[in-house]
Amino acid sequence: MERTFLMIKPDGVQRGLMGRIISRFEDKGFKLIGGKFLIPTEEQAKRHYAEHEGKVFYGELIDFITSGPVFAMVWEGDDVITLSRTLMGKTKVTEALPGTIRGDFAAHTPFNLIHGSDAPESAEREIANFFTPDELSVYEKNI
Ligand code: CMP
Repeated sequence: MERTFLMIKPDGVQRGLMGRIISRFEDKGFKLIGGKFLIPTEEQAKRHYAEHEGKVFYGELIDFITSGPVFAMVWEGDDVITLSRTLMGKTKVTEALPGTIRGDFAAHTPFNLIHGSDAPESAEREIANFFTPDELSVYEKNI
């Protein structure tokens, strides 16, 4: 069983898309085990996007992600990392296909609505940046 970190970005919150975005992951059958509505601190945002430091869009990205509340989440399921990224669509909204979250709702990069971990190592690091272990729920999902 795999875990991933998903974060509805400030544009997703402000456009009132949280419910519809979360539904896509519920519909797929994944299990939500943690959720937190917060404005990321600058330190938290820089840790989260450390791999992009030095890129031309880095400053704008940090400003954007700290500009308002996000909904940070931890989801569980088989192959949830890869499958979440399929549901989200391509990072660049010009390449995101219809039927994906970004393809259906996003029209401008970097305002691509949602972030999702790209590998088990980044998922672990990103989850630890936003959640303590006791904030993650353990429960049976039998239905
Ligand atoms: P995300 O999946 O959160 O990972 C890095 C983020 O940088 C990306 O989504 C976009 O919001 C943002 N970004 C801004 N410009 C670019 C770009 N040219 N290419 C990729 N990501 C970009």
